[in-house]
Amino acid sequence: MKDISEIRADFPILSRKVYDKPLIYLDNGATTQKPLCVLDAVRDVYIRYNGNIHRGVHAMSDMTSEAYENAREIVRSFINASQREEIIFTSGTTGSINSIAFSFGERYVKEGDEILVSNLEHHANIVPWQMMCERKRAKLKVIPVNDNGEIIFDEYLKLLSPRTKIVAVTQVSNALGTIVPVNDIIKAAHSRNIPVLVDGAQGIQHGTTDVALMDCDFYAFSGHKIYGPTGIGVLYGKEKWLRELPPWQGGGDMVDKVTFEKTTYNELPFKFEAGTMNYAGAIGLGKALDYVSGIGREEIALRERQLLEYANNRLSGIKGLKIFGNSPDKIATISFLLDGIHQYDTGMILDKLGIAVRTGTHCAQPVMERFGIEGTVRVSMCFYNTFDEIDALGTGIEKVIQMFS
Ligand code: ALA
Repeated sequence: MKDISEIRADFPILSRKVYDKPLIYLDNGATTQKPLCVLDAVRDVYIRYNGNIHRGVHAMSDMTSEAYENAREIVRSFINASQREEIIFTSGTTGSINSIAFSFGERYVKEGDEILVSNLEHHANIVPWQMMCERKRAKLKVIPVNDNGEIIFDEYLKLLSPRTKIVAVTQVSNALGTIVPVNDIIKAAHSRNIPVLVDGAQGIQHGTTDVALMDCDFYAFSGHKIYGPTGIGVLYGKEKWLRELPPWQGGGDMVDKVTFEKTTYNELPFKFEAGTMNYAGAIGLGKALDYVSGIGREEIALRERQLLEYANNRLSGIKGLKIFGNSPDKIATISFLLDGIHQYDTGMILDKLGIAVRTGTHCAQPVMERFGIEGTVRVSMCFYNTFDEIDALGTGIEKVIQMFS
């Protein structure tokens, strides 16, 4: 892996100050910062070759289309999908899950059917299924979690029933950092012929994701959480499903022939890409994935494990600090509360010290309810963070405690 100072130099924003203090950015679970090469790739589109994709006979359209399809190939290879037809660009994880919940519901779900999610899910992997269940009069069932913030596997097995139409689980809990055993979940579901969607929003950026090995039926992730632009994401789906599912949006480019009597649809993946897509975002995402591959995904995972261990040691030594989510399988995320101090106060004081963390429910209210709390302070680290920054966080937290004592 490159030297940490070289890596940090790739991200101009990391050297800025807030309130005249060096920025310590520990909110990577919410969004990651962008390396210059991604910004350059997006700028390049607009400066050098911008034209609408798949539509023109002119050189600009051709060049943009080629770059867009090249980004699709980068995504395919990054997650090891077998074909480019299985990669659909969307607006993000939320867009991906809403789309699939709609189409899957339209095609397969009937009254009395069941959809299985876990208690760890982000709202984006709960509400779209709930909306579909309301439309179809189906039931949402929930896999419970234990006190460590891990799903209870035996309970999961008990919930799988002949009425279960799909299991939708997160790869990693955004609120607690727990790595979910998705491979085992998928095996158990497949042995009963039930498909599985994996929400990869907090998983893809922390190591190697291989959809062929995982054997998931659908996989969703966002560009902005993996050093790419906002407003772009991916839905991977196995070809056999994507062929059968109806499109979730109608419009230009997703059609084959349109008459007022009947419309036939374009082939995969275009059937699911209606209207002008965020092609500049997709091209930026392709560059971000190349950047991550260049750093090395195993190296990223190793560095983040070291950061987590260091932060765990530093924070667990602070009296009155309670960590939520104590699974041994975690990404470099620590959710905590300080005795008698509201999470917003902690977050606001840390902010004044230049330290950016997230506070609140993290769009995962059911997890908070499970632990009987209103929210937490969440520190989410990634490979560009440093041990010095964690020391500064520790000192900052001690300052918060001092101010309230
Ligand atoms: N889903 C994002 C987070 O966990 C916004 O912070």
